[in-house]
Amino acid sequence: MSFFRPAVDTLRPYVPGRQPAAGARVVKLNTNENPYPPSPRAQAALAAIEADELRRYPDPVSQEFRRAVADTLDLDPAWILAGNGSDDLLTMLVRSVSGPGRPVVYPTPTYVLYRTLAGIQEAPVVEVPFDDDFVLPVAGLAEAGGALTFVANPNSPSGTAAPVSTLAGLADSLDGLLVIDEAYAAFADTDALDLVRRRPNVVILRTLSKSHGLAGLRLGYAIAPPGVIEGLAKVKDSYNVGAVADRVGAAAIRDTAHAQRVVDRIVGSRKTLAEQFERLGWRVWPSQANFLLVRPPAGDAARLHRQLEACGVLVRHFDEPALADTLRITVGTDEQHAVLLDALQRIL
Ligand SMILES: Cc1ncc(COP(=O)(O)O)c(C=O)c1O
Repeated sequence: MSFFRPAVDTLRPYVPGRQPAAGARVVKLNTNENPYPPSPRAQAALAAIEADELRRYPDPVSQEFRRAVADTLDLDPAWILAGNGSDDLLTMLVRSVSGPGRPVVYPTPTYVLYRTLAGIQEAPVVEVPFDDDFVLPVAGLAEAGGALTFVANPNSPSGTAAPVSTLAGLADSLDGLLVIDEAYAAFADTDALDLVRRRPNVVILRTLSKSHGLAGLRLGYAIAPPGVIEGLAKVKDSYNVGAVADRVGAAAIRDTAHAQRVVDRIVGSRKTLAEQFERLGWRVWPSQANFLLVRPPAGDAARLHRQLEACGVLVRHFDEPALADTLRITVGTDEQHAVLLDALQRIL
């Protein structure tokens, strides 16, 4: 006997990367966090929060944060919706748009949560495979007829990105919504902000978890035409973003200079790390994100993943056939990279 719907009983739950206890002595390169601290202005905003502010419910529509995003992007706040991480916004999208007879479509391999959320919603799923170079399979995505089509751009776990012109063509060929998940766009050469202004069916998702070093705060936002934002907001939890996230997130977003400095540093480290792996004879996919997908020459990724973990270095290995011989490694500090490469040298 089960208390749950059959769709939940048969669901493969999303398994996040390992989060060791605070203070554990590991080099953590498995969940694409930022190795640098958040903006000093965000830290000051956090320190200034009074206990009395926590006694009351937060602003249900996170106006302080949304105004900060709107100001930095030169948009009206009606185009912005805040979420408890971009995962919360993904939940709102799947909940409000998909369902039985309303397919969810995405290329694979990609962010696994799309599949999990569609499963909960009992929506049909169409997975369109990438080729080995991770070129976006536009024709297959367009033909699948999604009520909701997800493209993570840059993609995870490949780090590769499709040009905005390709995404524009895809948006034009879809009757449903195209969600461009830009969790990693701050580390890329381009983004789709111009596209969302000009297409009625495009939604962009962004997060403060990666570029702003605030994964623990849980804060993300959607950018879409006001009519789409209104529809999504109907299914959100009443107080989905806490008062601390609203205040601290606004300060972090307004400190654009800090975010840019950190991003530039990570992009520089990404280039060096990619060159180091290439020199070792590993395949490195061209990354526009804060991580690298790499394939060891002997293809023994699962074993290396375990051996690195035994050395206190956490990287990500996905238990999926298309990714079995690869590792995804977050770009960290130069010191973390030295530990990683030293451990690999000892193992190999
Ligand atoms: C492609 C992609 N989208 C969304 C998320 C979720 O980010 P958040 O921390 O904002 O929920 C992640 C996190 O790893 C991701 O890789």
